[in-house]
Formats: sequence, C-alpha cells, structure tokens
Amino acid sequence: MAFVEAYNLHKTYRMGRNNTLHALRGVDISIEAGEMVAIMGPSGCGKSTLMHILGLLQPPDRAANPPPRILISGVDVTNLSDSRRTQMRARTMGFVFQSFNLVPTLTALENVALASEYAGQSRSTAAATAREALEWVNLGDRAHHRPTELSGGEQQRVAIARALANRPALILADEPTGNLDSANTAEVLEVLRKFNREHQQTIVLVTHDREVGATCSRVLLMRDGVIGDEHPRAAA
Ligand SMILES: Nc1ncnc2c1ncn2[C@@H]1O[C@H](COP(=O)(O)OP(=O)(O)OP(=O)(O)O)[C@@H](O)[C@H]1O
Ligand SMILES: [Mg+2]
Repeated sequence: MAFVEAYNLHKTYRMGRNNTLHALRGVDISIEAGEMVAIMGPSGCGKSTLMHILGLLQPPDRAANPPPRILISGVDVTNLSDSRRTQMRARTMGFVFQSFNLVPTLTALENVALASEYAGQSRSTAAATAREALEWVNLGDRAHHRPTELSGGEQQRVAIARALANRPALILADEPTGNLDSANTAEVLEVLRKFNREHQQTIVLVTHDREVGATCSRVLLMRDGVIGDEHPRAAA
C-alpha cells in the first residue's frame, strides 16, 4: 500500500492585488512504504512547497478542482484540525529543512531531545534517545555544543539526528546534504539509507545532487510546479 498519496496539489501565492504565483500546478504523487525517493528539479520549481504540503505544514489550495487529497498510510489527512495535524507530524514524521531550524539557545542534545518530548517521551527518555541519535550521526562528542558552536555540517547532522530520533515512519528531507562536503554527504546518506533499510522508514528527499539521487530507489523530476518524468534509477 502507498504510504504517502497526494492528488491534485496546487499552491498559489498571492503577491499584491493582481499578481499570483502558481508554485504547484496539480501534483500527483504516490510513495510506497519503505521507499527512498528523491525529488529533483530546478530552483523555484516547487520542491520545498511540495515537501511542506506533504509534511502538513502548509495547506494546498482548497479551491482546486477536483479538490486536493493527501493520505498518509491510507488515512485522509487533507482536512485535519490543527491539533490532529500537529499530533500526526510529531508521531509519524521527521523533518530536515533547508535551513536547520535548530533552537539557538539549546545544546545539540536538547535540540534533538525536544523532538522526542513533543512526541510524548518523558524528559529522561528523550535525553537518552537524543544521545543515541547523536551517535548515529557521529556527534556524540558535540552533545553539549550550542548551534553557534558547531560547523554548518555539524548543525545539519544535528538536524538529521533530530529527524531520526523517534524513528518516524516518514522522513521528509529538503536538501539534507546541501551544505555538506562530500565526506559528510556520504556519511549522512549512509545513515539515511541504513534507517531506510533496517527500519523500513519511508524517505522523501529533495536534492540537486545527481549522485545523491542515484542512491535512491526512485527519482521524481519536477518542473514548473508539476512532477513530470520518473526515472527508475536516477538517469536524471
Ligand atoms: N511564501 C511564499 N510566498 C510567495 N512565493 C513563494 C513563497 N514560497 C515560495 N514561493 C515561490 O514559489 C516557487 C516555488 O518555491 P520553492 O521554494 O518550492 O522552490 P524549490 O523548488 O524548493 O527551489 P530551491 O531549489 O531553490 O529550493 C518559487 O518561485 C518561489 O519564489
Ligand atoms: Mg527548496
């Protein structure tokens, strides 16, 4: 069964009175449980917008015809209340954004633990989970550093540890290796692949890097707000 399904996703941004920007123009997407899928396409084609909508962080245009639908694990989540949506995110999804969104006043460990606390773990269990997650990305020795005391690549890896900590069924990663050098890129990909393989986590990642795409089971090509071609193995 498809783990993530979405139909007729449109997203229009209104810019002033007469100006609209059609960022998504009818995206249909279906991702099987346990897949690791790359979304590739030129800057501005709507990749991040799509990730935000699949992550229930932003609604698609309601007025689209036929109306948009988003299903996670067969459950229609298109019109969930705010609180149900937040719950669904905390329990089933892990996010890695283009900007890391780490809390600047918290240490690496506290940043990662926060995700587990949101998902309902006690503070001490969350701290233990966070410590383990930091080990996965080889940052056990940076647990007590604040974001400003970490390199860009290390901050990115903290964000990945945070996304993985609860072993969410779905990981949405927007250019997770965008700010990393090739050694760090390889390391992060290996961690993601390992989770995909060992825990059957479904991973959707956006990348500009063909080599990253080539390590995924499928590459979806986006252009001008729609998903076009599909390449079985990163011919993109
Ligand atoms: N909040 C917003 N308000 C208005 N326009 C927006 C907003 N967010 C994105 N856009 C526009 O929507 C289009 C798609 O943006 P999006 O961020 O999804 O692109 P992207 O494919 O992720 O690009 P990149 O590869 O550069 O990250 C772009 O033209 C962008 O300028
Ligand atoms: Mg983007």
